[in-house]
Amino acid sequence: MSELTVMTIFGTRPEAIKMCPLVRELDGRPGIRSLCCVTAQHREMLDSVMEIFGRKAHLALDIMEPRQTLTTITAKCLTGMEEVLRQARPDLVLVHGDTSTTFSGALAAFYHQIPVGHVEAGLRTYDKWSPYPEEMNRKLVGAIADLHFCPTAANRDNLRRENITQGVFLTGNTVIDALGTTVTDGFRFQEPLLNELDYTARKVILVTCHRRENYGEPMAAIMTALRRVVDAHPDTELVYPVHLSPVVQEAAHKYLDGHPRIHLIAPLAVDEMHNLMARCHLVMTDSGGLQEEAPALGKPVLVLRRETERPEAVAAGTVQIAGVEQEQIVALASRLLEDPEAYRAMAHAVNPYGDGHACRRIADAIEWHFGLRDQPPEPFGA
Ligand code: UD1
Ligand code: UDP
Repeated sequence: MSELTVMTIFGTRPEAIKMCPLVRELDGRPGIRSLCCVTAQHREMLDSVMEIFGRKAHLALDIMEPRQTLTTITAKCLTGMEEVLRQARPDLVLVHGDTSTTFSGALAAFYHQIPVGHVEAGLRTYDKWSPYPEEMNRKLVGAIADLHFCPTAANRDNLRRENITQGVFLTGNTVIDALGTTVTDGFRFQEPLLNELDYTARKVILVTCHRRENYGEPMAAIMTALRRVVDAHPDTELVYPVHLSPVVQEAAHKYLDGHPRIHLIAPLAVDEMHNLMARCHLVMTDSGGLQEEAPALGKPVLVLRRETERPEAVAAGTVQIAGVEQEQIVALASRLLEDPEAYRAMAHAVNPYGDGHACRRIADAIEWHFGLRDQPPEPFGA
């Protein structure tokens, strides 16, 4: 084979954050022609990440609509990818994680009989409704994919239980590679509030909440709990960069507006987010990515969900499942804010998700699979 054409496909903020470092790695490999295709399932939140990592899409769909349904996203991605794949004819398509873009990108490649590599493979809750629709998306992509890049040994073992044993590589998570480039000493924020906050005298609670399975009652309970926590602790400031989803915007403003120590702000650029995380006291979130990043930065995390597909940091003691019930969330947050021992027990840096070399391993594994390299990469953690 002369030159290997590898097409990365992604469309949402977290996929972009975790795929841009890999695109950079692939761009630097002489034997690889690297093509980047975005679906723009997200628009503003995707563009911001591409800009920070200095990447440009070679091919782009433009599918975002306000309040888009899962059916619309999937159908538009699948149809749009048809022409892209017919023209570019890559040797390998890479998708990431578990979004609608991930699933439709993998399915579109399969329909064109193009091999698929799944980055961040093997995460499972074994509950098809939580996270919804992500658990089903990643299982379906696992069934389609030829190469599986697992962040952790537990992810690899999940695939083994599904009899997926070929083409599986233990690489670490590319989010840790991303984190290595964004967090810097003396970082100055674009968002003025973040320069003004006193991170020593005040306990800054960083919040994000956006998941579909939390829409409605769970989100109302979470928001009410957050307000109660801030009310009960005068030394706290809550910073919540609110996801652009209209459903999330409505809930956040309904329950959290008009409080002097609750700051609802626009979504942050990824470097701002990572540096805020590095300075805050506590993270409360239903995000997947934050559960990986905050432990690496030594910040305790309360997960605003019933379960997690990322048990490694729970086992390491820095992440706790807080659930979606008001009383439990208030109780767990209050304990961390009031009991220095409980806080210290959770606030230590652990890195079960990667060592910053995931992108190199993934690119090496691809080259090895296609005969461009003699040896496979050493597994993460070996
Ligand atoms: C999607 C993913 C979810 C991931 C999340 C990361 C699916 C099914 N869900 O959920 O796995 O955790 O992204 O954030 O793929 N919007 C904008 N501008 C943007 C981005 C979003 O206006 O830049 C608004 C639009 O009104 C859009 C809505 O947000 O309709 C929801 O976006 P969507 O991609 O459908 O779902 P997410 O909840 O973002
Ligand atoms: N993030 C960001 N700005 C924000 C909120 C989140 O850059 O205002 C980053 C965060 O650091 C993480 C990723 O976005 O890397 C997580 O994305 P999100 O929570 O949207 O999705 P999930 O990880 O839950 O799929």
